[in-house]
Amino acid sequence: MRAALLAWWDAGHRELPWRKTREPYAVLVSELMLQQTQADRVAARWPAFMRRFPTLLAVAAAPMAAVIDAWAGLGYNRRAVNLHRLSQAVLRDYGGVLPASVPALEVLPGIGPYTARAVASIAFGVPAAAVDTNVRRVLTRVFDGTRAPPPARVLQQRADAVLLPERPGDWNQAVMELGAVVCPAAAPRCTVCPLARMCAAAPDVRAVREQGATYRTAARPQPQRPFAGSARFYRGRIVDLLRAPDAREGLGPMAIGARLRLDFDASMRPWLEALLEGLQRDGLLYWPGDDAPVRLPR
Ligand code: ADE
Repeated sequence: MRAALLAWWDAGHRELPWRKTREPYAVLVSELMLQQTQADRVAARWPAFMRRFPTLLAVAAAPMAAVIDAWAGLGYNRRAVNLHRLSQAVLRDYGGVLPASVPALEVLPGIGPYTARAVASIAFGVPAAAVDTNVRRVLTRVFDGTRAPPPARVLQQRADAVLLPERPGDWNQAVMELGAVVCPAAAPRCTVCPLARMCAAAPDVRAVREQGATYRTAARPQPQRPFAGSARFYRGRIVDLLRAPDAREGLGPMAIGARLRLDFDASMRPWLEALLEGLQRDGLLYWPGDDAPVRLPR
């Protein structure tokens, strides 16, 4: 598996801008963006973010509002708040130099098990497997075929066991790349896959295709959170409104409501206030309450 996958990776892969560097802060920014945003969208925005904030110290010295502003177009703005908090924690605890170990990275704001291992392996050569959705799907298909994925702990152990310790960053990115371009959830392209010979799912995929159907991994059941989708939509829209040049000094809650929805009226004020309070709790805006203007945090 190691030889086949690395040979495939070395023969050519997508030239994504962050793959030209191993500078830890640059890798960290790319991995934070890639947590929830597609690679092509990140590729369009990572370079501009890096020009505006070329170093961790530049983030730490900037007002929070500037970092949230530079996050425009990426979604899940809380990641910008976390990056700012992380930069200040690293300045305080490590003199501004990102730590290289998984345990030290993992406890920083906004970094979980996946991002800690991605940064440690790509930037610092630490032999730790990064398991994201793509990696989970690839490893499950190769080892378990069409069965459900094993528990996260088992998957992490397995991923660490197959990792190529001499080139952990390339290995992790090769598994992710395979999942993204050859082995997506729907319609995996086994005929061009370097692992098809050893993959437990490949025969089942072929059988499904021979019946004229499309093979796909069943979507993972999402916890039921009523209205979460629409709350996320309006949270993003509110931050977008506050990024606008005419909102530098803030916008009143009723003005925000009117720009948010055509049908906004006073009866929706409690709904709007709940959104504003949630965003304030997450560090994404500043609002003293009542009719005082709402603005990005400084
Ligand atoms: N998804 C998460 N990390 C990635 C990376 N380094 N390259 C491409 N896609 C990714």
